[in-house]
Amino acid sequence: MSGTKIDGLTVSSLVRERVKKATEELKSQGIQPCLATVLIGDNPASATYVKNKQKACAEVGIKTKDHKLPSTTTQAEMNSLIDTLNQDKEVHGILVQLPLPPQCSEFETTSRISPLKDVDGLTPHNTGLLSMKKAMLKACTPSGIMELFEHYSIPLEGKNVTVINRSNLVGKPLIHMLLEKNATVTIAHSKTKNLANVCKNADIIITGVGDRTKFTLTPEMISDGTVVIDVATSRLDGKLIGDCDFEKIIQKASFASPVPGGVGPMTIAMLLKNTVTAASMSKLGRN
Ligand SMILES: NC(=O)c1ccc[n+]([C@@H]2O[C@H](COP(=O)([O-])OP(=O)(O)OC[C@H]3O[C@@H](n4cnc5c(N)ncnc54)[C@H](OP(=O)(O)O)[C@@H]3O)[C@@H](O)[C@H]2O)c1
Repeated sequence: MSGTKIDGLTVSSLVRERVKKATEELKSQGIQPCLATVLIGDNPASATYVKNKQKACAEVGIKTKDHKLPSTTTQAEMNSLIDTLNQDKEVHGILVQLPLPPQCSEFETTSRISPLKDVDGLTPHNTGLLSMKKAMLKACTPSGIMELFEHYSIPLEGKNVTVINRSNLVGKPLIHMLLEKNATVTIAHSKTKNLANVCKNADIIITGVGDRTKFTLTPEMISDGTVVIDVATSRLDGKLIGDCDFEKIIQKASFASPVPGGVGPMTIAMLLKNTVTAASMSKLGRN
């Protein structure tokens, strides 16, 4: 038996189409959605991520403002740029590419972004709102995963969902999003005991470890018909891989997402969606 491949490229292009239409609608009302990107230092991977996000914005008609800072940037200089962008009426979303150099605090930097322009959905304000079912801007990767469930009509209510990740970026926002859909959520991490047993009992597994030397989700660990979402990305011999071997896991799973081509494209699509949402909120005079 072989399950259905969850095709993030196709689903993300549908989201982008919707974003493009919403952008055109906003433009017709005199609002040009705009994302400010902030890149610090010369990490080539970070530079590529920012370039890809800018390209994706251009494709749906979102304007970008590019800010590149040297790796010696101080926290005070960083705060000053964020304050300027918070005040800039033309800017609807602010994206600070992580990781930051050691002299800058990710928490202080993220917290300084106006919650109304927080298109990564990571400020303390928006993560708090998420836990109360009130967030307008939600973390992009978990939102992208929820969009995949929706597209493939994968039911969540009453299902045992195990998330192998407890980061602020992935696992923690997923807790609230999954609870909102009435799933029974288990969070596993590096200190979880008998992870194979935990996985065996899950209807749905979302895995995001990102290091095959520490963890691989194998077909033996899952039950027949489990839904597997692989968030992880790491490199093996120059190739992008996730936490499981897609070709093996799909033999036992009812649905599985590949790496690449699964969750990754959804993350960028949800960033675009958040930028348009932030621009729409500005229409209400909220930024
Ligand atoms: N496709 C995308 O768009 C996208 C977006 C975001 C992240 N990612 C990828 O997702 C992965 C996770 O990202 P992240 O930022 O959340 O990283 P992270 O903060 O390092 O999270 C990794 C998680 O894995 C857990 N873990 C480590 N070893 C484990 C083990 N042996 N058994 C069970 N759990 C274990 C960690 O547990 P502890 O908390 O106990 O350390 C932690 O919760 C990375 O590969 C990243 O590249 C992809």
